[in-house]
Amino acid sequence: MTAVLKNSGYDQAALVAAVKSVLPETRPLPLHEPEFIGREQEYVKDCIETGWVSSVGAYVDKFEELVAEKSGTRFAVACMNGTAALHIALVVAGVGRDDEVLVQDLTFVASANAVHHAGAIPHFVDSERETLGLDPDALDAHLSEVAELRDGGAFNRATGRRIAAVVPMHVFGHPVRMERLAEVAARWNIPVVEDAAESLGSTRNGRLMGSYGMLASVSFNGNKTITTGGGGAVVTDDESLARRLKHLTTTAKLPHRWAFDHDEIAYNYRLPNLNAALGCAQMEMLDRFLAEKRALAALYRDAVADIPEVEFFDEPEGCESNFWLNAVLVPDRAARDALLETLNADGIQARPCWTLMHELPFNRDCPRARLDVTGELVDRIVNLPSSAKLGRRS
Ligand SMILES: Cc1ncc(COP(=O)(O)O)c(C=O)c1O
Repeated sequence: MTAVLKNSGYDQAALVAAVKSVLPETRPLPLHEPEFIGREQEYVKDCIETGWVSSVGAYVDKFEELVAEKSGTRFAVACMNGTAALHIALVVAGVGRDDEVLVQDLTFVASANAVHHAGAIPHFVDSERETLGLDPDALDAHLSEVAELRDGGAFNRATGRRIAAVVPMHVFGHPVRMERLAEVAARWNIPVVEDAAESLGSTRNGRLMGSYGMLASVSFNGNKTITTGGGGAVVTDDESLARRLKHLTTTAKLPHRWAFDHDEIAYNYRLPNLNAALGCAQMEMLDRFLAEKRALAALYRDAVADIPEVEFFDEPEGCESNFWLNAVLVPDRAARDALLETLNADGIQARPCWTLMHELPFNRDCPRARLDVTGELVDRIVNLPSSAKLGRRS
């Protein structure tokens, strides 16, 4: 073990034993596995037999209704993945070429990529210790330092660029302090577009994630709580935005019985009916998966409770997280890497947080705030296997 750990009370062997006490002995044990134990085969077979496999069909319409319901919004527009969903959400929110978009540095690369896809520049901000997500107070302080309000919008004084949106991301399903963020964003006249890719079913003060922003994107990638294989959606309460989203994600085709006419350059981002069929069946399992993931989180919480200098990352106060990925915090980067080596060598897929966005070569020149908390968190987080079935006890 490294010198850093010698004098601390941290005991990796105790932590590994605790993690193993929660898990079955089967190996390899993936970080997050999809599971198809409902009506998936029936619905997919129905698509194949009827020929409705592509961008039109009853399942994709139904799936949109279900996604809206589970996001606490009036509308959902299904997309082919969560990255496309976030891209189109930003476009519809008014983000354009050479704008800046505030994005937390501690996120999956797709959050920043979507900003680049919109022709804009990500501007990285810090997370907070209590949620892992964007810190609204630090954001407010940063904006006071670098931004000014003029012409009805916020502008970065150093670059002269408009700050066109803020993208909070609910890390591992733990909700950002959205009420406070909404206040700050409103004061700076910056639209909020939630990256709710990881947080389907999570609530804060009883309100579902995805329902706070002007728009929010969700992902149904194979590693998410429920999956469509690949898939995503944008959710919103605003009917005109929903209509615009549908238009832009379906090549801006003008409705007509036989003519093929389009009124602008747009995208072929629609989720196929075949994938939506899988999604409809998965949605029927969502409440059960959420309960099982909650049970798994309780097992990890109890197992590591007495281990010095180890913290189970729990849901923030007032929140019910979906515990998409369980996480423990260890003392430092050396402890993190040693734990990752040991668990992975044993066939237990554990992983660190993402490489920070500002450290990726294509983001190095992007503006950024102080990232002190992010820097500490990234050194200490280890994600543990989190499939719903690991919380199933009968
Ligand atoms: C935070 C975050 N944003 C966006 C995405 C993109 O979703 P997708 O993989 O469906 O494109 C993901 C996950 O994959 C994610 O975790």
